[in-house]
Amino acid sequence: MNLFNIQEKNKNNMANLEKSKILVVDDKPENLDVLIDYLDKFGLTIFVARNGEEAIQLATKIMPDIILLDVIMPGIDGFQTCHHLKENENTREIPVIFMTALSDKKVKGFKVGGVDYVTKPLQHEEVLARIRAHITIRFQQKKLEKQNEDLLQLNQEKNDFLGMVSHDLKNPLNNILGIADLLNSSIQDKERKLLRLIEANSKRMLELITELLDINRIESGKRDLSLQKIELTALLFESVYRHRMPAEKKQIQLHFEQTDKNCYLYADRTAITQIFDNLISNAVKYSPFDKHINIRLFQSEKVVRCEIQDEGQGITKQDQQKIFAKFARLSARPTDGENSTGLGLSIVKKLVESMDGHVWAESEGKNKGSLFIVEFPR
Ligand SMILES: Nc1ncnc2c1ncn2[C@@H]1O[C@H](COP(=O)(O)OP(=O)(O)OP(=O)(O)O)[C@@H](O)[C@H]1O
Ligand SMILES: [Mg+2]
Repeated sequence: MNLFNIQEKNKNNMANLEKSKILVVDDKPENLDVLIDYLDKFGLTIFVARNGEEAIQLATKIMPDIILLDVIMPGIDGFQTCHHLKENENTREIPVIFMTALSDKKVKGFKVGGVDYVTKPLQHEEVLARIRAHITIRFQQKKLEKQNEDLLQLNQEKNDFLGMVSHDLKNPLNNILGIADLLNSSIQDKERKLLRLIEANSKRMLELITELLDINRIESGKRDLSLQKIELTALLFESVYRHRMPAEKKQIQLHFEQTDKNCYLYADRTAITQIFDNLISNAVKYSPFDKHINIRLFQSEKVVRCEIQDEGQGITKQDQQKIFAKFARLSARPTDGENSTGLGLSIVKKLVESMDGHVWAESEGKNKGSLFIVEFPR
């Protein structure tokens, strides 16, 4: 299955009445002889049931494309029959059109799951037009369901492919890095410069592959979380500490404010570390020189909240919509030649949500700084 096949299949959007089955349910079908003959002329295959019980049995057996259902019948009436059909997983999706008398409560038909009604005495052309309309809607619905399944499968195939390629690229790259490290001690200064370039480029590629593998693992549900009681203050402090050097390089001051000494949460330690690292590295990356970054951690009875606020390039209104999407490299650009892949925040969002948390960004606009907030329920 490929995209071309999906598009090809999409071309014909009208249901073919000639291939459609209709179940007519009426305790006096002889009154409907003229209608049945009329529908027969349009190639519909017609089945008849004389009461609700028979209709339910027949519907499960023949799986009609549409049901034309009388309301008043001996035994279970049309409303109850429809209710049963809608409760059964197999017959739930079959559209039911009620044949009602003027005095019947038509709204009740919709309440029990009917899609439409025709009023007796029946106008044959109107009945046919409604049948055609609902069969077409159902036909398109089925088509969309199938396309959805195909797209999910295609996406899975893409994820598997990406996972396989990324994984296979990682090994030779690690080998290159290992060899570069070995060569380092046995070469001259001039060659060492070239070696540093090989190392830097290989490391960058490895980072990229690791991010791709990461997002792939999360998207295909292969990343298992190991939830345990962890202490967030220390974890956040370590993350702030790790970013001290790149911040100092830009004369950026990192301030960590904590309101409570200890802040406990059931969460995955690696995922939380990855979330903090991504947000703090962004704050440093998108801030100009000589600015401040404030990192805060609060807790209440119900939530734990971490805020990372910078005085950098801020987020435009347009960028706000896309900032957590994959491969979003937006108007804010790194201020000191740092790398930007556009995957970090999409990984953050997926990780936060996998632990029932929320993450969002606030900014008053371009060059007004950004505030990223992560909140987890306790
Ligand atoms: N603190 C921030 N201030 C302003 N813009 C930001 C900030 N953080 C992220 N952005 C914008 O959002 C985009 C997406 O960020 P994201 O972290 O997903 O990717 P990245 O930093 O470009 O690359 P990486 O995958 O290495 O994290 C960035 O390219 C940047 O334009
Ligand atoms: Mg980033």
